[in-house]
Amino acid sequence: LPPPALQKLFPDNCSLQIIEEEAGDLGQLFPEERSILSEHAASSVQKLFAAGRLAAKKGMVKLGVTPTAIGRNEDRSPRWPPNICGSISHTQGLAVAVTANKKDIWSLGVDVEREDRKVNARLISKVGTAMENEWFAKLETAQQNLALLRLLSAKEATFKAFYPLERVFLHFSDAEFTPISKGFEGQLLKSASRVHPPNTRFLVLQSVWNGYLFSACHIPQPDPSL
Ligand SMILES: CC(C)(COP(=O)(O)OP(=O)(O)OC[C@H]1O[C@@H](n2cnc3c(N)ncnc32)[C@H](O)[C@@H]1OP(=O)(O)O)[C@@H](O)C(=O)NCCC(=O)NCCS
Repeated sequence: LPPPALQKLFPDNCSLQIIEEEAGDLGQLFPEERSILSEHAASSVQKLFAAGRLAAKKGMVKLGVTPTAIGRNEDRSPRWPPNICGSISHTQGLAVAVTANKKDIWSLGVDVEREDRKVNARLISKVGTAMENEWFAKLETAQQNLALLRLLSAKEATFKAFYPLERVFLHFSDAEFTPISKGFEGQLLKSASRVHPPNTRFLVLQSVWNGYLFSACHIPQPDPSL
């Protein structure tokens, strides 16, 4: 079971599951899932893909849903069963998936990174808004690597959560992030869906566990009157 600190990144009605790369057993994939994988892919890529799909299906079991194949859309996003939303991420050593019933949650985004990943500091000028660049420049050099990794991870979790709603592609500077104690507060700089106009605010919660940084974004079901 994932530790409580990680489970708290998402609402209680979501199921977060973690599977180590080594446990990524291709034999447990559905044929449709296996066919997504190129047989030329490196063994670690294959194991992480399998671990991600297995984590997602473990989550579905927890939700009381019979697991079915999670295909892949042309845009590479996972093809979830109709009543389920979810998100998958993997990095060297670990895969994570989060799932929920669509009636409870509209969409989910998760990202995992190794906390010791080195990121080129110059990336901030490519992915950051003017305000994020200002924030970054004021940080001590020793803090910058982790700060940039946290920002990138928050942006990726955000992309994964908003993209499935209406397939709007948010570029790295299409949302702006302000650090808060538990992660970031995000603000959309462009529309992400009919109910998410520019300036919509949302949270990305983060937690570090076992040398891995996790970022979590969830989008509640819209008010039916909207
Ligand atoms: C898609 C993207 C977020 C994936 O992140 P990554 O760090 O490369 O890889 P991760 O391991 O974290 O995630 C890979 C998983 O993302 C999921 N994914 C891929 N495309 C996706 C999409 N369009 N929408 C939702 N999920 C997607 C898949 O499940 C994939 O795993 P799988 O191939 O095993 O199914 C990233 O490659 C990307 O394109 N980012 C650009 C857009 C962006 O981040 N904008 C920021 C907006 S503020």
